[in-house]
Amino acid sequence: MGTEIKATDIKIKERAFPIVIVGHIDHGKSTLIGRMLHDTGSLPNGKVEELQSSCDRRSAPFEWSFVLDSLQLERDQAITVDSTQIWFHTETRRYVIIDAPGHREFLRNMVTGAANANAGVIVIDAEQGVSEQTRRHAYLLHLIGIPQVIVAINKMDLVDYSEDRFKEVEAEMTAYLKEIGLDAQAMIPVSAANGENLSRKSYKMPWYTGLTVTDALDAFPRVAAPVERPFRMPVQDIYRYDGRRLIAGRVESGQLEVGSDLTVWPTGRTAKVLSFESWATPKEKATISAGESVALTLSDELFVERGHILTLPTAGPRTANTLSVRLFWLSKTPLQRGESLTLKLATAEYDVVVESIDTVIDVDDLSRGRGHEVIQNGVAEITLRCRSNITYDLFYDLPALGRAVLIDGYQVVGGCIIEGGADVETASRNLTAVPQSVSSDERQVANGYPGAVLWMSGLSGAGKSTLAMALQRELFNRNIYVYTLDGDNVRNGLNRDLGFSEEERDENIRRVAEVAKLFADAGMIVISAFIAPTNAARAQAREIIGDRFHEVHISADMNVCESRDVKGLYAKARRGEIEDFTGISSPWEPPENPDLEVNTGELSLDDSLGKMVRYIEQRVLQAKDKAISSNH
Ligand code: ADX
Repeated sequence: MGTEIKATDIKIKERAFPIVIVGHIDHGKSTLIGRMLHDTGSLPNGKVEELQSSCDRRSAPFEWSFVLDSLQLERDQAITVDSTQIWFHTETRRYVIIDAPGHREFLRNMVTGAANANAGVIVIDAEQGVSEQTRRHAYLLHLIGIPQVIVAINKMDLVDYSEDRFKEVEAEMTAYLKEIGLDAQAMIPVSAANGENLSRKSYKMPWYTGLTVTDALDAFPRVAAPVERPFRMPVQDIYRYDGRRLIAGRVESGQLEVGSDLTVWPTGRTAKVLSFESWATPKEKATISAGESVALTLSDELFVERGHILTLPTAGPRTANTLSVRLFWLSKTPLQRGESLTLKLATAEYDVVVESIDTVIDVDDLSRGRGHEVIQNGVAEITLRCRSNITYDLFYDLPALGRAVLIDGYQVVGGCIIEGGADVETASRNLTAVPQSVSSDERQVANGYPGAVLWMSGLSGAGKSTLAMALQRELFNRNIYVYTLDGDNVRNGLNRDLGFSEEERDENIRRVAEVAKLFADAGMIVISAFIAPTNAARAQAREIIGDRFHEVHISADMNVCESRDVKGLYAKARRGEIEDFTGISSPWEPPENPDLEVNTGELSLDDSLGKMVRYIEQRVLQAKDKAISSNH
């Protein structure tokens, strides 16, 4: 009794080798899988006997494909996903067969990378020969970049184990594969139903001296694991935890160590990695690798948001506004030129337009032609254009960032692999910045102080506007060029097209930050009074403004602000009359490390003002002594 451990079990440690088996059901794909599971001893004890006796009860003949059906049935009851994984092992290694219930789901999984295989097995019926379906499947393997393939020419028992017939099918398939640039490592005559040449050599085909299917699989080299590739981590989310900002995502490839420099794309900004926090293990780690989901902290508060890509500075991704992709179209409605779609690449989403349908490929005869549309299950090379730059890799370099899904509304309508990219001229590309004829140093000398932005943020009712106006008056009285940018004012003019969704607030802050930067460049002290509710929004402002940015948190508890309710907005928001109200129905993330905090709930207006004036004296005006002391 007890579980007996075979010597071979001990080796079963390495990550399972993912393979995909394609071929028409009628060509015996399921039979081949069922029989191979049995012959390799990978089936649960008693499975075959159980199916056999159930067949006997119904006086139906037993078939090996029932094994697969019953495994799938068990899985379907447990989980409802598009793909099924079937495990088996040889003496050499463990395999996982990635499969899907239907053709469509299968294609979608393969194209989108939900399923990623290292090798493929193509099953062909020896009697029927190479069908259109066979060609389509082989083409798909090529399309999704399956690097290693073997061909099992099945049902040899039905053609009397004829070497001639085998040679015919072999020649036909070899020719097709050659045309699409695939090279089968082995073509094997098998009888799946009889278990011949699957994992046991057949004595009925002495003319065949090559490998069995499992030996051919075992002969495949392990493909470079994603760990050995350049580091890529698409950002999934940003969290605040214990006063730290955690950037969360899944490492798609490569490795990263604490202390490394990390570049954020598309901004190209770099900071150091301070720590990793893994969801799985409570203790801090020093290295993270492909496949792990982690949250990391950075030395600087860079602008990072969902969809951004983190890489090492030395091995960054590509960026382009125009992509050449190989498309697999899934939608019933044919794809036309000029169509607007969403391109989802890792965690990023881009609005793209189909600029051209360059080549439509007929997978049956591989003819390539110009076409004006791509029909369902069709393959084409198309060009996609985006207004902004897309961060990507070429599929053949790094599949994880080299494939994408096309979405129309909420539906996945196609999958594609990226074959090239280009930066095509757009209006904004034909711009060249003109250097200013008066430098900011000169302005500083002339004015006696540098331009600066005092970036005040805080909840509505925290006292930002009141303080900003009082401070402005105080500085003006001291002959300082000062100007206040205030939310309610700017939203009446420059930003009157913006509302209060997260995107609109980000855009509000972006524009305001650009304006504040111009004013500060012009030598002015700018006081800004905006809620700027998120870390991302403020990090963006800091990035735009640079060194002149001083962050001030006008802090007052939510209940203090609400009880003041100067504009009556909290009451309205509570009554549900205002949507997305900060602190009530829209998030508020207090600044983490402001340069100055002024708690208007605890300090009087005079004291609050005094604190800000002192800050400006020390951190902005004192700079004049350093810069222009020689003038005095
Ligand atoms: S921010 O979030 O984009 O920075 P901003 O500071 O420009 O906001 O504008 C906030 C001002 O708009 C508030 O002082 C308030 O008077 C007004 N307001 C109107 N609707 C809202 C809302 N839903 N949330 C917050 N403020 C609002």
